[in-house]
Amino acid sequence: MERKKMVVGNWKMNPLTHKEAEKLFDAVAKSLLWVKKTEVVICPPFLYVEKLKKLSRKIFLGAQDVFPGDVGAFTGEVSSGMLYELGTRYVILGHSERRSFGESNSDINKKIKGALVVGLRPILCVGESARDENHGYFSLVKTQIEECLAGISKNSISKVIIAYEPIWAISSTPGRKDATAQDSLEMAIFIRKVLSDKFGKDSGSLRILYGGSVNEKDALEFLKNGGVDGLLVGKASLDAKKFVEIIKICEQSSK
Ligand code: PGA
Repeated sequence: MERKKMVVGNWKMNPLTHKEAEKLFDAVAKSLLWVKKTEVVICPPFLYVEKLKKLSRKIFLGAQDVFPGDVGAFTGEVSSGMLYELGTRYVILGHSERRSFGESNSDINKKIKGALVVGLRPILCVGESARDENHGYFSLVKTQIEECLAGISKNSISKVIIAYEPIWAISSTPGRKDATAQDSLEMAIFIRKVLSDKFGKDSGSLRILYGGSVNEKDALEFLKNGGVDGLLVGKASLDAKKFVEIIKICEQSSK
């Protein structure tokens, strides 16, 4: 099944000012004239979206979280409808940094449903904090997928993107280790099996990404041998040169 490759930049809570955000985004946007086969998404802090969307038609914008409700008395929250209206088309959900604040699979499930209703594509992050000898991490990821995608219709499943991010490989994890393309491949195959058991052949067009300290040196290896359709990039997406290089590698690796 043909699945378009994608590279997603997760800026997290960076940079500090609008000016820096525009500079970084613009430097990436200007270098992407040759991109044809890769979907490029940048997820900045959402208050930057409005200005950034004017700078490029080629880069899709995404958010890093959303509230499951629509409108109403929810102090401090932003809804999927508002994010769509602002110009975002993707939303990262279930990132380990948000799960560490206490977000549960059932919270994430509500957010995914709310996002799908308005046409936002959820990028669901899954992944274990450590690998154990008994391979318990496979069942942890299975539970994350089953609970986060509970009640999602077969029609909607192709709109979801799953990012496998082993927490032990993410750049902000103290004492982190490098994951290998083989680690990614095994999990990607497993995730496809979990999805096809739950959603049947409709899940065949869903894209799986790898994330966890991806950089311009290992991107090709993950894309070639990691069994994934793209990459979710944190730290390296804050460096325009590195991020563009990763996109270039992805473009060249697409058939
Ligand atoms: P990293 O972040 O590339 O800096 O490890 C990835 C992520 O947390 O989404």
